[in-house]
Amino acid sequence: MYSCRKITDDLVYVGVDDRRLPLFENIFPLDRGVTYNSYLLLDDKTVLMDCCDQTVAHQFLENVNFALGGRTLDYLLIHHMEPDHCGSIEEIFRRYPKMSIIANMKTFQMLDQFFSLALPEEQKLVVKDGEEFSFGKHSFKFLFAPMVHWPEVMFSYDTTNSILFSADAFGVFGCNNGNIFADEQNYKEKDFLDDARRYYANIVGKYGQQTQAALKKTSAYPIKMICPLHGPIWREDISFIIDKYDLWSRYVPEEQAVLILYNSVYGHTESIINYFAMELGSRGIRNIRIYDVSKTEVSYLIAEVFRASHIVLGATTYNNGLFPKMESLLTDMKNLNVQNRKLAIIENGTWAPQSAKLLKGILDGMKDISYIGESLTVKSSTVNREALENLADAVADDLLK
Ligand SMILES: Cc1cc2nc3c(=O)[nH]c(=O)nc-3n(C[C@H](O)[C@H](O)[C@H](O)COP(=O)(O)O)c2cc1C
Ligand SMILES: [Fe+2]
Ligand SMILES: [Fe+2]
Repeated sequence: MYSCRKITDDLVYVGVDDRRLPLFENIFPLDRGVTYNSYLLLDDKTVLMDCCDQTVAHQFLENVNFALGGRTLDYLLIHHMEPDHCGSIEEIFRRYPKMSIIANMKTFQMLDQFFSLALPEEQKLVVKDGEEFSFGKHSFKFLFAPMVHWPEVMFSYDTTNSILFSADAFGVFGCNNGNIFADEQNYKEKDFLDDARRYYANIVGKYGQQTQAALKKTSAYPIKMICPLHGPIWREDISFIIDKYDLWSRYVPEEQAVLILYNSVYGHTESIINYFAMELGSRGIRNIRIYDVSKTEVSYLIAEVFRASHIVLGATTYNNGLFPKMESLLTDMKNLNVQNRKLAIIENGTWAPQSAKLLKGILDGMKDISYIGESLTVKSSTVNREALENLADAVADDLLK
């Protein structure tokens, strides 16, 4: 059965919810699923914007067939060549062999790398940055957005209706469940926002500078609607998601808040962390969040790192190194270009503690990282309580100043 919805008189949502996929990109857990969005414009010409993952091709093809209403497909416009959107291209081409593909040069190169479509040369329309193309009533302007999230990514802007087709930008994890518009969902509430942040931080987070460039480019145009490739369409309160993307891509903490991330083999570090959190709480710090890095999957931790301004790390020394889960978190933070955060460190070791030094070795390679107070050493469960309280004072003073 098809499942489509009209967006405007001549634009139809033909995307698909995926509730089965356990891991997006085979790495990020999906609690609320994910959507692969696709849009069909029914102008003088018919234009399909992007496809879907191969795993949902059956549903997607049914949607496209229904939405076309007996017309043929004239154009496939590709904004992003990643297989979560292009996995079903061969199927689309098989059904509509006369369609032309509109894409940029880099996209065509990738298309050839992934598939061997027997697409005749005259059905390849290569577009340049800033170029315009008319489908009848609607004229589209192509705006390249390299590295948001792959090098070939481009947005397109429908100059007729002021709609921005934004590829992966402004995407969100989570299924739409029939509510294809953000204003039909509780987009300001925690579940939604946590998933939006987790999507941004882990998928696009590394490319803050490029995201800033794309935001700047699109700010030149009035935008009445944003149609991303994942999650809901934005037609009201658009500045809500634009402002979030602006903060995240400048690595500005979303909240002045304390986030505590620790590992503990036998529970002693955890006990010190609990004590430390009580000290922070009694100094007036609110909404403290604590995570055991062994328990919480790293993409959630990364999202929290993008949210909070002050991060306390509690780390045991492990075979003269860092605990693997802690090391992997720090490496991920560095790879994703996390910047502009304040850190306090509590290390543990039973015979030769060195996790503080090792953590700093990774953190020092990151931009605008500063430390609050001196790193504190715990030996098994022995700690200088005064030093711990001084560190709590320093964190509280910095946060509440
Ligand atoms: C497999 C293993 C390796 C460890 N390696 C070191 C080490 O190289 N140096 C050190 O000082 N402590 C080492 N420790 C001790 C941990 O740092 C220890 O678990 C900690 O001091 C107690 O805190 P916890 O209860 O939070 O784990 C090791 C512990 C384990 C279980
Ligand atoms: Fe992507
Ligand atoms: Fe995507």
